[in-house]
Amino acid sequence: MKIARFSRLGFILAAAGSAVGLGNIWKFPYITGIYGGGAFVLIYLFTVLLIGFSVMIAEMLIGYMGRKDGVTSFEELAPKHSGMWKFGGFQGLAGLFIMTFYSVVIGWIFHYIATSIFYLPSSAKEAENVFTTMLHTGFTTQLFYHTVAFVWITYVVNKGIKGGIEKMNMILMPSLVIILSAMFVYATTLDTFSKAVDFMFLPDWSKINSEAFVTAVGHAFFTLSLGMGAIMTYSASLPKDANIVKNTLWVVFLDTTIAIVAGLMLFTFLYQYGAGPAKGPGLVFISLPAAFYEMGVLGNIFAVLFFIALAFAGLTSSVSLVEPMVQYFIDRSGWSRLKASVSMGLFFYLIGIIVILSNIDGYKEFLTWGGKNLFDWIDFTTAAIMLPFGGLIMAIFVGFVIDKKKVESIMRPQLKFAFDIWYFSLRYIVPVSMFVVMLNLMGII
Ligand code: PFF
Repeated sequence: MKIARFSRLGFILAAAGSAVGLGNIWKFPYITGIYGGGAFVLIYLFTVLLIGFSVMIAEMLIGYMGRKDGVTSFEELAPKHSGMWKFGGFQGLAGLFIMTFYSVVIGWIFHYIATSIFYLPSSAKEAENVFTTMLHTGFTTQLFYHTVAFVWITYVVNKGIKGGIEKMNMILMPSLVIILSAMFVYATTLDTFSKAVDFMFLPDWSKINSEAFVTAVGHAFFTLSLGMGAIMTYSASLPKDANIVKNTLWVVFLDTTIAIVAGLMLFTFLYQYGAGPAKGPGLVFISLPAAFYEMGVLGNIFAVLFFIALAFAGLTSSVSLVEPMVQYFIDRSGWSRLKASVSMGLFFYLIGIIVILSNIDGYKEFLTWGGKNLFDWIDFTTAAIMLPFGGLIMAIFVGFVIDKKKVESIMRPQLKFAFDIWYFSLRYIVPVSMFVVMLNLMGII
């Protein structure tokens, strides 16, 4: 099966579109809020530079060399034990699991776009009521918007790499950057901007426990879309003469900048209008609307634009979460794109309904174990376990399994002297760090 190729800009926007998602604008600020700001941000930035960067180059390289769906690429690039290595490609399943809650959150965002046009809650208390009422009792509302997200995502994936994914990213990504930049510039004019800078950059190590550490590392993978084959699947459609290092630099730069810009902007608004860095997933749905209310009509405009930008970020990531398994079924099982897109869509859509129920009164009691409901469990196991594990497999695969000469012939001209550092990092730094994270996760250290 021949895969359509991205244009040069199309690839950067699609890969950045995958990376820049709910992770940057919804999740990053709220987990930064929970774990106390600066110290958490430092661990996250450090992981992005030390590990994320090397793993992204490795993941792009596997896709670029393999030119097929993830499973086939692993299989064909492994000189020995290809039957075992092909399981690396099944990491794509993590994407579908992520989609089960990702689509639900995009649904909440759609709902907030619609309601923020005319209404904003006048206090944090009221905002919390509105959000928790939707979360705990608004089954039909959530189902309706989850359905809209499912239809939109499935429609775009069905149109394919060029006509669907590239096209959507070419429009939504620049729009998102424009909206966020305008709001950020406004935030810099407020007095509380410097307070937000302090919160995000002055480390307070007292809030860092092992959970904070694992969450920061997991988030670095999640936000860069690493470890499940999204970047790999897109890279199978890279133009032949593409420069992997330059592409990686762009994606890491855009992803990190947008997370920091979104965080600074949100915390500035939250400090300025009273609420502070409130904790939890409700941050952008509770504290922020109440802050926007204080701005009057400008607040309504900001709220709608903000939620539109957030929806754009979520949609461009969603297609990359679904595409790896879609590509797999097209390449390996000979399915039509339509059949593959609809089947993968239904998979996350139907489980997503149970995810919605895991927050609904009367059901959530049955869908909660060990202090986390199904929603939180899927979020935690995919981001903190499956993605870092996938990243580890990719690092080892490029570092030890693919013939070094082949890797070197492509990567040395691009990385120059840094080739040896990168290769060393894949072989030793990434595996050792991931091992430490896993021990930590199992409570051993
Ligand atoms: N990077 C996306 C975000 O930050 O929201 C989420 C994501 C997309 C994770 C694609 C993994 C992936 F393969």
